[in-house]
Amino acid sequence: MASRRTVSIYGAKGHGKVIAEMVLECGDEVGGFLDDGVPAGTPVLSSVVLGGFDALARLPRGSWVALGIGANRVRERIAQRLVDAGFRLATVVHPSAVISPSATVGEGTVVMALAVVNAEARVGRGVILNTRSVTEHECVVDDFAHLSPGATLGGQARIGKRTHVGLNASVIHLGTVGDDVTVGAGACVVRPVDSNLTVVGVPARPLARRS
Ligand SMILES: CC(C)(COP(=O)(O)OP(=O)(O)OC[C@H]1O[C@@H](n2cnc3c(N)ncnc32)[C@H](O)[C@@H]1OP(=O)(O)O)[C@@H](O)C(=O)NCCC(=O)NCCS
Repeated sequence: MASRRTVSIYGAKGHGKVIAEMVLECGDEVGGFLDDGVPAGTPVLSSVVLGGFDALARLPRGSWVALGIGANRVRERIAQRLVDAGFRLATVVHPSAVISPSATVGEGTVVMALAVVNAEARVGRGVILNTRSVTEHECVVDDFAHLSPGATLGGQARIGKRTHVGLNASVIHLGTVGDDVTVGAGACVVRPVDSNLTVVGVPARPLARRS
């Protein structure tokens, strides 16, 4: 049996709280929260904020830290600082999630309740596969991307780095979405999406803003 981990959570807001509860449901222990914007000593769930990044100095080098930050760029930056400082990025998988034995999931990725990752999918580092998301067979989800609750990727779809797929949005099989894209809530991607765009609607098209 794997030994019980003590996992500190970087990010004491909503997403961090969900991860803390996942850590407990996995039978691990929450070591406390780290957050640069919440005062040390603030109670969060049944734990407490230890402080900001500097508070890590009080934790043993090599401790487990889970990434509890929703914003993709910020999560990527914090992950790099943690690794540089000698901490281990905790991968946290909710017990109700289903991950194919032939799929791979990178370090620091969280797979939330009822998420499904099917055969030979490749999920990178620091990714969020949120509640009830579906990553179908042979998909590639690159580092620090986020599939929101209910988002669905058809087979062999590819999602770029730091891309955010919104609530209940979908990408059809073989669909490709570049880096740093936002796919709006409820959208359906049926054509390739270039990097750095926001797309919305069914079928998804670049967001036209009013002047
Ligand atoms: C697409 C999105 C990023 C746009 O946000 P924004 O840049 O702040 O845009 P605005 O809210 O100013 O809306 C701009 C226009 O797009 C429309 N729009 C916004 N989101 C839309 C969506 N998901 N689908 C269709 N149209 C949308 C608005 O109605 C508005 O149209 P209008 O100019 O005719 O009034 C955002 O609405 C969205 O869907 N984000 C995903 C949120 C999500 O899933 N979060 C998950 C958290 S776990």
